[in-house]
This record gives sequence, structure tokens and C-alpha cells, in this order.
Amino acid sequence: GRSVVTLDDLSTGQIRELLHKAEYIDAHRREVAHACDGRVIATLFYEPSTRTRLSFETAMLRLGGQVIGFAGSQLASVTKGESIADTLKTVSNYVDVVAIRHPKEGAALVAAEASSVPVINAGDGGHMHPTQTLADLSTIQARFGRVTGLTVGLCGDLTFGRTVHSLIETLCRFGDVRFVLVSPDELKCPQYVIDRIEATPSCSYVECRDLASVIGDLDVLYMTRVQKERFFNEDDYLRLRDTYILDESKLAAAKRDMAVLHPLPRVNEIAVEVDDDPRAAYFEQVKRGMLMRMALESSVIGDRLPGYEPLGAVDT
Ligand code: CP
Repeated sequence: GRSVVTLDDLSTGQIRELLHKAEYIDAHRREVAHACDGRVIATLFYEPSTRTRLSFETAMLRLGGQVIGFAGSQLASVTKGESIADTLKTVSNYVDVVAIRHPKEGAALVAAEASSVPVINAGDGGHMHPTQTLADLSTIQARFGRVTGLTVGLCGDLTFGRTVHSLIETLCRFGDVRFVLVSPDELKCPQYVIDRIEATPSCSYVECRDLASVIGDLDVLYMTRVQKERFFNEDDYLRLRDTYILDESKLAAAKRDMAVLHPLPRVNEIAVEVDDDPRAAYFEQVKRGMLMRMALESSVIGDRLPGYEPLGAVDT
């Protein structure tokens, strides 16, 4: 098995296969319930999480495996000064796969290099969150039957929102996407992500500050939380946090089949009234996150899913 630190660790054929596998798992929960019997995952979370940790764990439990780990490093030997590398050289003796979340960019790569079993990045600082992107792709695929040929708006904190960076880079690999990047000037998309769009001839982008003026063009609207924990200055956070609030009145100008995604947790970015709108896809996204983690965990360990026929997708 191989580690997944960024989605560049998977070919587009492998990503298509995972999307297909997740659909199979959803329709065959009983058949796959023992696919990972006897396996153990470690979830090492040095940063808060609700969805990612609990879905990594549920995914393994629903495949018949078991879970160890820590949530919050205060109870682990990191408080005594242990390095990530030493932690992985230790924990990888115990388990078949590791999921790690850490506030520092690059931590998952350090972990993967030290580990004797596959490591899955569950978010490293403001850098990448590949399994969130798998959930996002699965949700877009379910809504539109494809992940290409769409106008995808990303709105909010495009500087620190690691899920935004992973999603844009991956959609560029599939190609034929028009990005609309909506943010305050202080929270624009980093240049390395823009470079990725510019290097993809079939993709284009516009940057703007005003959501209302572009919402009618969008097929997907990916809302994000302003990442308080990555700000150096509380005043900047308070000034910027409520820049965009999606409510029913703003949604009135959107296409009837637009899909609203959000990696969650939300603070104020989406009014609760939007939850009942058929365009709200963010709790469906949560479910798809668990299914994609089931697909990924079984794949990196190398366990077969009974009855599953591979898509045999051509690698590109
Ligand atoms: N989307 C996401 O990563 O949520 P958590 O921080 O709750 O895991």
C-alpha cells in the first residue's frame, strides 16, 4: 500500500476507481462489512476534528476493522517532546494504516516517510486535505454525473482553506473547469494554486470580491469558513469572518440545480435556513466523506471488497 499525502499520490484513474468503489460500498454495506477484518487503523489527531476523525474511524469499523489513536496530542508522548517521525516509527508497528492530522504543513509527509505502513493525510495545516477533496468530488459527481464541464465558485477564505487548495488542484487534473474565486483581497488563493490553474489549458479562472454578482453563473458553490486558527491577528479575523453569508435571499439568484458545498464546520457562512434548500449538498458531502474513506482505507491496505468489479479506469 501507498501513502496519500496529497492527491498527487493517486493517479486520476485511481481517483475514478475510488469514486466508483464508494458507490459500490454505499449500495453493498453488508457485503463489505468484513472486508478489513483483523485490520487496525491509528488516527493521530494533533488538531481538532469532528468529521474527519470520526469518519476515518467509522469507515474502518464498518469494514470490520478496529481503531486506536489519540484526539488532541495532550495525552500522547508528543507532550514529552517526541517527534512526528518517532511517533510514526512506533505506531506503524501496531497498525495497518495511519490517518494523521497536524497543524504544520508538511507533517503528513514527514509521517509517511517515517512509517512502515500507509499514511493518509487528514489535513496538514493550511496545505492539503486530500480525503476532503475525495468527498467533494464524490458529491459533485453524484449531483452532476461528472466533475468536468462545470463552473465552480469557491468563496471565503481561499488563503488558509486547505480544502480549497486540494479541490482546485484535483479538478485541474480532470480538466474543463471554470473557477470563480470569490474572496476579500486579504484572503485570496495562493499563487501556487493559481499557477496550477494557469498551467491547465482547459481550465480558467476569475477572481472577484462580490458573491452576488457571480452566483447566477455557478454550478457549484463551495463555501468556506474563515480559518480563525490560522490568523496571526484577532482583529483581522473579526473584520473578515462575516464577509460572506449565504442565505435564501442570495440563493434566489442561483441556478435551480446549483450545488452548495461546504467542508464544515460552518460558523456563519451558510444560514441554517439553507439546509432545507434542495441545493444544499453539505450534509450529503459528510456521508460521502465516510464512503470515500472506506474506499481509500480498504484500497491502501490492499483488501478486496467482496463482489466489487473494478472500473478498470484508464490512467491519465
Ligand atoms: N471537514 C473537516 O475536515 O471537518 P473536521 O475538521 O470536523 O474534521
